This record gives sequence, C-alpha cells and structure tokens, in this order.
Amino acid sequence: MSRLRFGIVGTGGIAHHHAVALQALSADAELIACADVQPERARQFAATYEIPHAYDSARKMLDAGGLDVVCVCTPHPQHAEPLLLAAERGIHGVVEKPMTPTLPEADRVLEAVAKHGTKLSVVSQRRWLPAAQRIRQAIDAGKLGSRIILGETYCEMWRDAAYYARDAWRGRWDTEGGGVMMNQSPHNLDFLLWYMGPADEIFGYWSNINHPYVEIEDNAVAVIKFKSGGLGIVKGTVSMNPPRRIHGVTLVGESGPTVSLDCWEFATAQNDIWTIPEDQAKLAEWRQHDQSFGSGEFPNFHAYQLRDVIDAIRLGRDPAVTGEDGRRVVAIIQGIYESGRTGRPVKL
Ligand SMILES: NC(=O)c1ccc[n+]([C@@H]2O[C@H](COP(=O)([O-])OP(=O)(O)OC[C@H]3O[C@@H](n4cnc5c(N)ncnc54)[C@H](O)[C@@H]3O)[C@@H](O)[C@H]2O)c1
Repeated sequence: MSRLRFGIVGTGGIAHHHAVALQALSADAELIACADVQPERARQFAATYEIPHAYDSARKMLDAGGLDVVCVCTPHPQHAEPLLLAAERGIHGVVEKPMTPTLPEADRVLEAVAKHGTKLSVVSQRRWLPAAQRIRQAIDAGKLGSRIILGETYCEMWRDAAYYARDAWRGRWDTEGGGVMMNQSPHNLDFLLWYMGPADEIFGYWSNINHPYVEIEDNAVAVIKFKSGGLGIVKGTVSMNPPRRIHGVTLVGESGPTVSLDCWEFATAQNDIWTIPEDQAKLAEWRQHDQSFGSGEFPNFHAYQLRDVIDAIRLGRDPAVTGEDGRRVVAIIQGIYESGRTGRPVKL
C-alpha cells in the first residue's frame, strides 16, 4: 500500500511533535512538505526532518499538489483557512487543538469537509494515554453503570510573563482567541465530553486575576448540565505555581464507582482513584505499567493519533477524534465566555 503524503502548516513548537511522529510512522506516511509564514523557519524545519519542499504559505504548499493530508500547527486563529483550502483540494486535515477559536469558523470547516468528503481529526493526543483508554474501556464495559453522573475536569498550570512573551500571538483575544480555557484546557474538556457525552447547558465565570501583562483570562470555572442528566465541573488556572496536576478528570458512575485520570507531565498519567470493585487486584500492576510506559512503541502520543488518522483514511471510517468532537470543545469554551459576559447560563 502506498504511503500517505503529509504536509505541515506552521513549523513552530508543536509541529516538531508531528514531524517526529511521522518519522516513526514512515512505513505508512511520508512528510513531503512544510509551510510557514516565516520562510526561514520553514527552511530550517525542512532541513531538520529532510522534508523535500518548504513554502512560505499554506496555499502555495497545497497548490503544489501531491499531498494526501495536512497537519495544521499554526496559532488557533490561523487554523480554519488552511483546513478550508485543504478540503477544497480533497486533502484530509489534522488540526491542533482547539479546532478553531470560534463556532462559525468551526462550522465553515465542518461544512467544507462534508462537502468535499475529506477526513478531519482534531488533535487530542492524550486520549491515547493508557490511563485514559482504561477509563473509556471501563465505561464501554458498563463498569460505571449506564452513564457518568458527575464529572470534574481540571487544568492546573503556571504560566509566567516569559511564556506569554515567547510568541507575539499569545495573550491577546484577537490573536489567541482566549486564555486558559482556549489554550490550555481543550485536552481536559475533550476528556470530559468523550466520557460524559454531549453537554446541554453551561454556566461559567472567568477572569484575569494575576497576569496583568496579558488580556486573556488566567482563571475560569464552570458547571455543565449534560444531555444524559449528568453534571460536570470545569476548572482551569494558569496561576498555580508550582503547577499541581496538568490535566485530569474525576468521574462518578451511576452505579457508584469513581475513577480518575491524572496527567502530570507530557507522557505520564495515572488512574489515581479507581474504586471499581472487580479491578482492585489490578491496580498495582496498572500503576507500574503507567510509570514505565512513557509513550510506549512511539516517540510521542501524536503518533498514536496520526496512526489512527492513516487507518481512518485507508479504511474509510471516521477518525477516533472527529471534527465534531473538536467543535463540541469550542462550544464549551465559547459557552463559558458568553456566560461570564452575560451572567446567564448558555444552551449548547
Ligand atoms: N496538542 C498539544 O499538546 C499542543 C501543545 C502545544 C501547542 N498546541 C497547539 O498548536 C498550535 C501552535 O502552537 P505552537 O506552540 O506550536 O505555536 P508557535 O508559535 O510555536 O508556532 C506556530 C507557527 O505557525 C506559523 N504561522 C502563523 N500563521 C501562519 C499561517 N497563516 N500560515 C503558515 N504558518 C503560520 C508561525 O510563524 C509559527 O512558526 C496552537 O493551536 C496550540 O494550541 C498543541
């Protein structure tokens, strides 16, 4: 079977994870092009990963032809345009989180993907952490009852002035689209929705409390009513110094048991609470496995998601994380912002 030909748009920080992942998937994938509005950055990136073609715009890269999939690794307000250009040319899309900063942009992308019959996957690489998969499997096996009745998700980080000064787009509403909810929390929000299903209504508060050198919110809290009848709590902060738990969720099943996912570092996560009675004998083994797993057979978790995308394209099925999943996360974030502005709950 021929290898799928990938291109990357935006060759800054996270693009390296995509390139390293694609190198690990070289039996099935070939990274043949990259583009960045900073042409020297694209050239250096191409040299590092031996990519044959470097461009100074996504459009030029996509117009050159020969691509099957594009990975969009630009800042969030620059996600929609390359995805639209790709779909129009029959090229599949992988886009970094959050899918887009706004719902109208997400809807335009979903419409284009549906119209042109291409695949779209929004990056949520932490879904492939063994501890995260274990929760999904327990839910699917009915070990938590027929639904999750209470879910809490958190992002507890520290970001300082140097972080926001790193790139011009960080810290402003027009160039970042939001703060701790928009940038740091999509992973947690995706976990909560993946486990609890679609949300119905949200009420939130957000504020910039101790990062006066940026516009966007540094703390946010919200409560969610899910369509299942379950209830959710969202907490995000970039004010916790030192950070405590980077990303995580705690879920209470209808039949009683509680499970949790606690992500500490990029590739480390554990189920620090797991009260499902029949699993108690396995906990020590799971803990040991999670501590030694790292990212397993691949150099990072992006590789697991990109492998899923390759399989989805070849088999004609949906990717594990769809565009609709990405849109649901954007709806939660925008729901929190709107609710905080109006003081009212927002229907989703
Ligand atoms: N999945 C994760 O864990 C994870 C981690 C970090 C960042 N991200 C996401 O990745 C995205 C990029 O973040 P980053 O930290 O790599 O940013 P970055 O600033 O390091 O890199 C972005 C690159 O995009 C380029 N760019 C900007 N506009 C462009 C355009 N229109 N066309 C082509 N190139 C353009 C910039 O020149 C820059 O080189 C963000 O959406 C962020 O949320 C995801």
